[in-house]
Amino acid sequence: MKPTIQYLALQGAESNHLRAFAEKGSGQFPNHGICPRVLPFDSAPFRRRSGSRRTELLLLLILLFLAGSAPGGSLLLTPRHGDDGSAWKQAECAACHPLRRIHQGKSAAGIRGMVRDKEYASCMGCHGSNGTGRKRPCVICHNPKDLPARPHRDGSFRHDFAGMDLDGECVTCHLDSDMDGRFEMQQDLTLFPDAHQRPAPYFSNADFCLRCHNRDHQIPGFEMDDRHWRDPLVAMEDNYRFIDCHGHRAGGNGTYRGLREGYAYASRVDCTDCHAMHGTENTGLLIDLAAKGASRLDPALGLDAVPVWTGEEGQYAQLCVLCHRMDREGQDSETDTGNGLPGLHQASGDCRDCHAHGQAGQAGL
Ligand code: HEC
Ligand code: HEC
Ligand code: HEC
Ligand code: HEC
Ligand code: HEC
Ligand code: HEC
Ligand code: HEC
Ligand code: HEC
Repeated sequence: MKPTIQYLALQGAESNHLRAFAEKGSGQFPNHGICPRVLPFDSAPFRRRSGSRRTELLLLLILLFLAGSAPGGSLLLTPRHGDDGSAWKQAECAACHPLRRIHQGKSAAGIRGMVRDKEYASCMGCHGSNGTGRKRPCVICHNPKDLPARPHRDGSFRHDFAGMDLDGECVTCHLDSDMDGRFEMQQDLTLFPDAHQRPAPYFSNADFCLRCHNRDHQIPGFEMDDRHWRDPLVAMEDNYRFIDCHGHRAGGNGTYRGLREGYAYASRVDCTDCHAMHGTENTGLLIDLAAKGASRLDPALGLDAVPVWTGEEGQYAQLCVLCHRMDREGQDSETDTGNGLPGLHQASGDCRDCHAHGQAGQAGL
């Protein structure tokens, strides 16, 4: 099945199961009803799926903790929009909300100017389709001209959901962003259910990827069936949890050890530290610029503008050298990998024999 925006409307925006989490920030915006209610855990969608009450209570506590610490809240309109629903399914925002009257409050300060500029064509991007099922515009603002800083969006490849349009792709991963200028994974990433079909909060950005990239609990509409069982597309959950050095396995005792400031052994590396979701020239969605990934590198190193070219045949040296720098001399340790940085035991050629996802026998990735 091909993923569609309709699917998302069903599974995301209009489904309580996922929405309850999108709306977790409710307490913070009591007056204008932007964030109506968090569904209590004994309401229908949860009761149907729940196993033990103790886990529910634990989840609820985690949620309350997150709600307390997260500043944002849902901007999506609900069927209660207007005076008890009279404005739901209406497409003409202009009829009731003159531009000069909206967004006076402090929480809208960051987006006020831009919305005035883009006018009514932008409303549904942030506030949802208001039950109309219309497309939600994103790249009207998130383009290199209007918001050049982040994400770094260019290049020939991006995380492409089988030919969906660009706006639809954004919504797939960012259903309910609060656009407050801070990326918070619980608010700004779409909440996909976990292996037990629960809308459990994410532990990390990688957790978000793994809710799709797994063998046995893929998200309906985004299946990757008919794959070889070792293909990273479907094997990544197990790779990341049990095999990859960049997952849970702590290292740091090897002959070639050494990391640049910001990274440390026994800490996990996020998928998006190596893979660019928003655009790159490298295949496999590997970043083509340090600033597109390697998020924890010490800014004092000034490496943001270092390019990464992975070539065609497993030449990953320019990627690896962003974070790795051998402590001791030997072999290729002083050889420039081609982007100005040395520090590896092998500075060119194919690395895949020994370094690939799920490579258990050799050195691993
Ligand atoms: C028929 C009139 C009407 C239309 C059309 C309408 N709204 Fe509203 N809207 C209201 C009323 C009434 C309220 C509640 C009072 C207030 O806050 O102004 C409201 C409230 C809101 C709020 C605050 C959150 C909430 O649910 O109370 C947002 C955001 C909003 N509208 C956005 C939109 C957008 C975007 C559109 C177009 C897709 C739209 N409105 C179309 C009448 C309307
Ligand atoms: C970039 C995201 C964004 C876009 C686009 C956007 N809004 Fe908003 N809107 C916000 C934020 C943020 C708030 C403040 C939420 C809060 O106070 O919790 C808000 C609040 C509102 C409110 C309720 C209170 C207020 O601040 O006026 C209304 C009504 C509203 N928006 C209507 C609109 C309409 C109509 C459009 C299209 C012209 C629009 N919005 C476009 C982000 C956006
Ligand atoms: C496959 C999922 C995916 C898709 C598709 C996607 N994003 Fe993202 N986006 C992410 C993840 C994960 C992050 C956080 C990590 C990062 O910054 O790379 C993120 C971060 C962001 C940020 C915050 C950047 C920052 O650090 O301040 C913005 C803005 C953003 N995305 C906008 C978009 C827009 C616009 C689109 C559509 C053109 C889009 N995204 C498509 C997954 C996705
Ligand atoms: C009116 C312009 C506008 C529209 C339309 C818009 N955004 Fe944004 N968005 C912004 C601004 C401004 C920011 C804050 C950027 C900053 O301060 O760096 C932002 C921030 C974000 C962030 C970063 C997280 C955060 O909370 O700041 C994500 C993710 C994002 N937008 C996704 C989307 C998606 C997906 C859509 C379409 C469904 C969309 N945006 C539509 C203007 C817009
Ligand atoms: C909603 C489900 C979903 C999420 C979330 C998701 N992906 Fe994907 N991903 C897919 C699908 C579907 C494909 C395309 C598979 C195919 O070609 O059949 C894909 C493809 C890929 C590819 C291969 C693309 C190529 O051009 O070779 C990479 C790499 C990838 N995803 C990494 C990630 C990372 C990293 C994240 C988290 C930041 C992520 N994905 C989040 C569903 C998802
Ligand atoms: C974004 C930063 C980053 C990039 C890029 C990166 N690594 Fe790492 N690498 C780390 C960190 C941090 C660790 C420590 C993780 C741990 O201890 O589990 C690590 C650990 C390793 C280990 C395990 C070392 C041991 O002692 O067990 C190997 C092997 C490795 N990386 C190979 C590579 C290869 C090959 C590449 C390029 C394809 C690469 N890394 C790219 C950050 C990175
Ligand atoms: C013949 C197998 C082989 C090939 C080919 C190979 N490596 Fe390695 N690599 C290893 C082994 C084995 C280790 C772990 C050594 C240890 O434990 O001390 C390692 C470790 C590493 C590490 C982690 C260092 C650390 O412990 O933090 C990096 C980074 C790395 N290799 C990069 C590369 C790059 C880049 C290439 C390709 C240009 C490459 N390797 C090709 C065998 C290989
Ligand atoms: C240290 C850097 C690094 C990290 C972290 C990393 N990857 Fe990769 N990824 C690579 C490299 C290098 C390749 C190409 C070699 C291979 O296929 O194993 C790759 C390949 C892939 C592919 C296959 C792409 C294709 O074209 O078929 C997928 C899917 C993928 N990664 C997903 C993920 C996911 C999901 C995560 C997080 C759970 C992740 N990766 C974490 C570096 C990384």
